[in-house]
Amino acid sequence: MDSPPALRRERISALTLRERERFAASRPRSAALARRSAEHLLFGVPLHWMSDWGTPFTLHVARAQGARLTDVDGHELVDFCLGDTGAMFGHSPPPVAAALQAQAARGMTTMLPGEHAAEVAEALACRFGLPRWQFAMSATDANRFLLRWLRAATGRPVLLVFNGCYHGTVDDVFVDLVDGRQVQRASLLGQVHELTRTTRVVEFNDLDALQAALAPGDVACVLAEPVMTNVGMVLPDPGFWQAAIPLIRRHGSALVFDETHTLSSGPGGYARAQGLQPDAVVLGKPLGGGMPCAAYGFTAALAAGFEAAKRAAAPGHSGIGTTLTANLLAMAAMSATLTQLMADAVYAPMIAGATRLAEGLRAVIARHGLPWCVSQVGARAEFQFCPTPPRNGSQALAAMDGALEHLLHLALLNRGVLITPFHNMMLVCPDTQPADIDRLLDAVDAVLGELCAA
Ligand SMILES: Cc1ncc(COP(=O)(O)O)c(C=O)c1O
Repeated sequence: MDSPPALRRERISALTLRERERFAASRPRSAALARRSAEHLLFGVPLHWMSDWGTPFTLHVARAQGARLTDVDGHELVDFCLGDTGAMFGHSPPPVAAALQAQAARGMTTMLPGEHAAEVAEALACRFGLPRWQFAMSATDANRFLLRWLRAATGRPVLLVFNGCYHGTVDDVFVDLVDGRQVQRASLLGQVHELTRTTRVVEFNDLDALQAALAPGDVACVLAEPVMTNVGMVLPDPGFWQAAIPLIRRHGSALVFDETHTLSSGPGGYARAQGLQPDAVVLGKPLGGGMPCAAYGFTAALAAGFEAAKRAAAPGHSGIGTTLTANLLAMAAMSATLTQLMADAVYAPMIAGATRLAEGLRAVIARHGLPWCVSQVGARAEFQFCPTPPRNGSQALAAMDGALEHLLHLALLNRGVLITPFHNMMLVCPDTQPADIDRLLDAVDAVLGELCAA
């Protein structure tokens, strides 16, 4: 979509320059740390995408607590990024911090289960309606492991995903639809296998395409976020999943819901909130309250297939698991999160806050006459540069505008609020106050005012 006339490119560039100068002038300690890190860290950061924030140098954090970050120069920021969902229950939530402290004194990793294992599995089974569980250290690995179990158990090689999806750095999902053709994502580094042989991709909300892709009978599973959240936000059409689920089952494939981000919907994820039942579910990020851990759950029928595949295999490495998976600290963190944070009473104000934010954003956007839309899934909201919510990944991608996003993110940061560096996602945590939301709305209003000024 073309930018409306008010959003002239030169204005975006000029404002970006000004915001970069403003950021740099007020952050000498971050600048010094960035210079020091440049010596020994690739791209000057511990993980290369930490340099993708659009700031002139990397912002360094001194402290993160509740809904707030304090940077090393003493600026306090209201955090709506929340570690891109890892801190959805707030930074260092007290029940998790206490559980970690207690467990740290009693052992951290043993390659054996401790007293939390059964309790965590019971809580997961009860929340997500799936009887069997395994763990991983990240949602990426949980997806990767589950895919391997499914391929092993079914003998079916193909993974089916939706165009524009992201499920972590699982190589198999990086296949895009470009002009109707399936192509390996060009940005993927060092991938030497031809992924399009075993990954099939269709547009979200397209039941005919889904049916055609399932028809050969070789699809092990459909891996999907119930609401796409990584290409901006794409909501399912009313009735899409109600029609897709029996279609997938009829073709002998399994439906895996990756609820890593849609856990923002409530204690049982989007599926529970909407009365949907997938065959398997993947949970990561906020599950450990900020500790790296993830889990995947599945039906009894799938569990029987997984166990049979393992028993029938030659002894040796399965390709599933990592040494520190389900370590004692991770299990203690998940236990605290599941029993003390993933509850309706905790979610209710988060979701109410996100609704206040989404409605406020719609009003601000309308005031400035911009053809943008706002979507919400539970405690998560997103604004997109298109007049109506996109229905699939291609439409969502077409609405993105990297230069405009960079400017908005940086200008908001300079006004004391942080949103995710990728697209325009905002999360509300239990500690986010209505005044924090109003502060974000005021900041968006001020930035859009400058952007649209004649
Ligand atoms: C839906 C979804 N699944 C999986 C992942 C991967 O999570 P992680 O990077 O913690 O492995 C992400 C990360 O953004 C995600 O959005």
